[in-house]
Amino acid sequence: MTVIAVFNQKGGVGKTTTVLNLAASLALRGRQPVGIDLDPQAQFSSISGFAAHTGDDSIYSLFQRNRPLHELIRESASGIRVIPSHAELSKVDALYGKGYNIINKLNTSLLAEKTEGKNTPWIIDCSPLVGVLTLNAIFACDGVIVPISADYLSMNGAMQIRKTLRALEQVLKRRVHRRYLLTRFDSRRNMAKVIMNMAQTEFGTDVCDTVISENVSLAESPALNKSIFEHAPESRGAQDYAALLDELIADGFIK
Ligand SMILES: Nc1ncnc2c1ncn2[C@@H]1O[C@H](COP(=O)(O)OP(=O)(O)OP(=O)(O)O)[C@@H](O)[C@H]1O
Ligand SMILES: [Mg+2]
Repeated sequence: MTVIAVFNQKGGVGKTTTVLNLAASLALRGRQPVGIDLDPQAQFSSISGFAAHTGDDSIYSLFQRNRPLHELIRESASGIRVIPSHAELSKVDALYGKGYNIINKLNTSLLAEKTEGKNTPWIIDCSPLVGVLTLNAIFACDGVIVPISADYLSMNGAMQIRKTLRALEQVLKRRVHRRYLLTRFDSRRNMAKVIMNMAQTEFGTDVCDTVISENVSLAESPALNKSIFEHAPESRGAQDYAALLDELIADGFIK
């Protein structure tokens, strides 16, 4: 089992797009991934066609009444399995506090889903906030992918995350592996190259070699409830997300 969280506290950098298309790419290779929507905005759920009608049908019920994860999985025809979110998830911080048990809840329930001889990839879509939900994702994951859309605020968000991860590593007593992924990359823009250089200077070999280009098909596909591989399999966006998966598997980030 490999658990990957996709997080940047800057909004709109391509977290959900990355979760959807990485999961779709894994599904095409027969890996039967599960995407967990841990964002109360529930965009990954609705794009996948699995908007939950009640909090109880969503990941909220894990926090509310310890519902096991396998009861919450929905399966699409394309092979992506999804645990949906619901707006009620935004109440978790206020209702359950920030104690260790609540922050470790997703980790505990993922460990209970471990099956001998099966290596399921779990990909978690985080909200752009560092709260109890995002801490759950970080405590549960083997690695974090930090999308950086090629602009300064998104790069600032990535530097904040490095600080947050360093602090959490003291508590977890292990290194949280990470990969910084440049998204919405337009090589014609000077800013894109400046941000790429900054990321390489700051994060070195933790920056993915693969870059996700700005691509119209990637922007279109959510409205059609499709991954890029269903919507435009020949597009640059599909090539980029397939290359990203190749890279993450080759360097052992996704096992
Ligand atoms: N490579 C890309 N090319 C073109 N458009 C993109 C690309 N990646 C993402 N987008 C578009 O940018 C917008 C934001 O992307 P997305 O929803 O994935 O970001 P997010 O980080 O999950 O946002 P939030 O913080 O609100 O959850 C969406 O409209 C999406 O379709
Ligand atoms: Mg999102």
